[in-house]
Amino acid sequence: MKNMNTINDVKLLDLPKISDVRGNITFIEAGRPIPYTIQRVYWMYDVPGGETRGGHAFKTLKEMFIALSGSFNVVVDDGYNTKSFTLNRPYIGLYLPNLIWRRLENFSTNSVCLVLSSLPYSTEEYIRNYSNYLDTINILKDKHENNH
Ligand code: TYD
Repeated sequence: MKNMNTINDVKLLDLPKISDVRGNITFIEAGRPIPYTIQRVYWMYDVPGGETRGGHAFKTLKEMFIALSGSFNVVVDDGYNTKSFTLNRPYIGLYLPNLIWRRLENFSTNSVCLVLSSLPYSTEEYIRNYSNYLDTINILKDKHENNH
């Protein structure tokens, strides 16, 4: 079933990188290499040392994170397992499908996190409570098992 995403569906993606003596260019175009249409772009910056962001999952929204500058960690959780990714290269994206709980932490000074979102901002998309998140994925899992 399409909605049963796990942390194995969270993927690091190499973005195109054009290098010459004048510096580097990395780019993203509609449909590649991101498996959804980007409907919103936002970025996090001036995150004070020790702060954590995220702490939620999205019902259907997919995202990609890119460390445009500096570094930070993205800890992902599918209700069963967790995994931590360090992002510190502006030519690598981290793709998160929907229904993955995430937390961003360990921001270095002056880090900038670019986020490419599959949907416009909507409070309806957020699951902000971890036990609600577990309930949601367990309901989906039960439905999935009953369909087989
Ligand atoms: P939130 O998604 O909770 O932050 P994070 O996951 O990065 O810790 O968003 C923080 C606040 O900003 C919240 O009040 C909603 C608002 N916001 C928007 O209005 N539009 C946006 O595109 C985003 C990402 C947040």
